[in-house]
Amino acid sequence: MSRQILVTSALPYANGSIHLGHLVEYIQTDIWVRFQKMRGHDCRYVCADDTHGTAIMLRAEKEGITPETLIGRVWDEHTRDFAGFHIGFDHYYSTHSEENRELASAIYLRLKEAGLIESKTIAQLYDPVKNLFLPDRFIKGECPKCGAADQYGDNCEVCGATYNPTELKNPVSAVSGATPVHRDSEHYFFRLGDCEAFLREWTTSGTLQSEAANKMQEWFASGLNNWDISRDAPYFGFEIPGAPGKYFYVWLDAPVGYMASFAKYAADHGLDFDAWWGADSKTELVHFIGKDILYFHALFWPAMLKYSGHRLPTAIYAHGFLTVNGQKMSKSRGTFITAESYLAQKLNPEWLRYYYAAKLNGSMEDIDLNLDDFVARVNSDLVGKFINIASRTAGFIHKNFGGKLADGVANIELIGAFQAAADSIAAHYEARDYAKALREIMALADRANQYVADEKPWELAKKPEAVYRLHEVCTVALNCFRLLTLYLKPVLPKLAGEVEAFLDVPPLAWGDAQSLFIRHRINQYKHLMTRIDPQSIEAMVDANKLNLEPTPAPAPVRHAEAQVHAAQPATATPASEIVSIDDFARIDLRIARIAHAEHVEGADKLLRLTLDLGEFGTRQVFAGIKSAYAPEALVGRLTVMVANLAPRKMKFGMSEGMVLAASYPEGHKGEAPGLFILSPDSGAQPGMKVK
Ligand code: 2FM
Ligand code: ZN
Repeated sequence: MSRQILVTSALPYANGSIHLGHLVEYIQTDIWVRFQKMRGHDCRYVCADDTHGTAIMLRAEKEGITPETLIGRVWDEHTRDFAGFHIGFDHYYSTHSEENRELASAIYLRLKEAGLIESKTIAQLYDPVKNLFLPDRFIKGECPKCGAADQYGDNCEVCGATYNPTELKNPVSAVSGATPVHRDSEHYFFRLGDCEAFLREWTTSGTLQSEAANKMQEWFASGLNNWDISRDAPYFGFEIPGAPGKYFYVWLDAPVGYMASFAKYAADHGLDFDAWWGADSKTELVHFIGKDILYFHALFWPAMLKYSGHRLPTAIYAHGFLTVNGQKMSKSRGTFITAESYLAQKLNPEWLRYYYAAKLNGSMEDIDLNLDDFVARVNSDLVGKFINIASRTAGFIHKNFGGKLADGVANIELIGAFQAAADSIAAHYEARDYAKALREIMALADRANQYVADEKPWELAKKPEAVYRLHEVCTVALNCFRLLTLYLKPVLPKLAGEVEAFLDVPPLAWGDAQSLFIRHRINQYKHLMTRIDPQSIEAMVDANKLNLEPTPAPAPVRHAEAQVHAAQPATATPASEIVSIDDFARIDLRIARIAHAEHVEGADKLLRLTLDLGEFGTRQVFAGIKSAYAPEALVGRLTVMVANLAPRKMKFGMSEGMVLAASYPEGHKGEAPGLFILSPDSGAQPGMKVK
């Protein structure tokens, strides 16, 4: 019976690039969706960018653009990256849409009617310079437990303690550097505690993986807190109906974004929204998420749906995190790999799809991308085993038989075994145990290769009396190849499409596994997949180091060198230093006035500068320009600074940016006339963006 299934992946934030960690989830979901579609089910896959919140608002401000412009640009980047990895959304939308505003407001009003919303005045840390309530991540200070400096408002990266931002010692606003003050404000809360009986029942009804259901028990045991769903202006989001100046917290309207994306899709495709989202809907609703956002999806979200009169999720499938070479992804090691940088090295996206699939087993365990193993596994399985079957046999069909397959298959036992595997491979895909599915598929590939090795078509081709046998053997091998392609198609959709074109068959569906592939004319074989060159993996890792790691101290001079390098003839520029316009656009260059400059005791190269960025506040920067400038000669001058460089803790204090200066690079032959900081033409103002 055909099922109706609506599938989602978590909505990525619209303030960052898609990286290989994100892709675990989108690839996992996409494989499942493609599998369901091949089975003939009516399966739709929707997603969107998660666009609201303080972080996005501030990032846009920093870039000197509106949040709408920022989220538009990021939407373009995200959809480009997803398409690059063959993620086949039926619709990819934005939470900043009218549909989402209407649905989020309607859900809120229903919850309110049900008596589940209460208001309460609470005190929070407020930035008196930016006039902004500060989210935890925008407050830094000393850990209340271990005293470590420079810790975020929610937890300490040194001792692991979690706490309230109000507990931080000597807190500072990461936005303006000001000392936050306590300020009262009225907030709206969703009374999650009132939903406990329902949630206890629902979370044990088989919707969750057992690991997740266990986690739920821990949460119930520690008590369900009411959920703060409002934020004060200024906030980029939706204003709460009937509450001027109050906005929905981003996590309130984010999951509603699943509905909104589907609503737009339904309107465009003539589908009945209520048949999918109404309380009596018979469709399946399946959410793929990372284990870190289980709380939102297994508690808040079902409670919101239930008490606003909507259907509940059928399943929530949580996956683990990605490690690279056994460790957390790291910018300095170059293993914080963006989707864009992978594709830029011309690495085939299906290699990664295959490798992830080989590791995913439907549990919440973390998965590791070991880069050496990645190369070895893909080369051995896909090129050495799978493609090999066609490349060793297809040529004979053209050379000797006019491109036509034989009238029957010689080894019905082998083909029978391939066909019989369809059900168990399907069961593994259904259970998201892709690792098992691929093990079974590769075991079949081994059998097909063994058959070809035993029959030796290249020797049969030399004996005129064996021509009939040759035809049969190649036909059997290509039947095996066709079935392997069918089974791998959810994982390798593009390659499968190329095989379909080569075999000259319509798109393969799961049911096609039971038919034989005979008396059919195929096209000329062209090479289908190359091996991974380990050097391109190295280049990708290097590129990620270059792109993302802040330049080491003493930073200013080095940066100036990079500028001068770029002005050298192209032949003098190593290829790895070429950056795209997008890379360049990530660097926030601003005009700054040198408000103060002084010597730094104990430092022979550095001056301590206080840079005034106008409305964006001031920054302290240590610049390696002492050899060229007396501090008093600098005060009052305008210069250019990198304003979005990650702050660096130096021996003498924090350096919060970098001024641009020109000098010859080390090793330059000839006279070294010194070092020159950059200045704008007159008329420029502190805070202006340099583009
Ligand atoms: O954790 C995240 O990346 C969120 N942007 C996920 C939102 S998923 C859904 F609820 F919208
Ligand atoms: Zn600590």
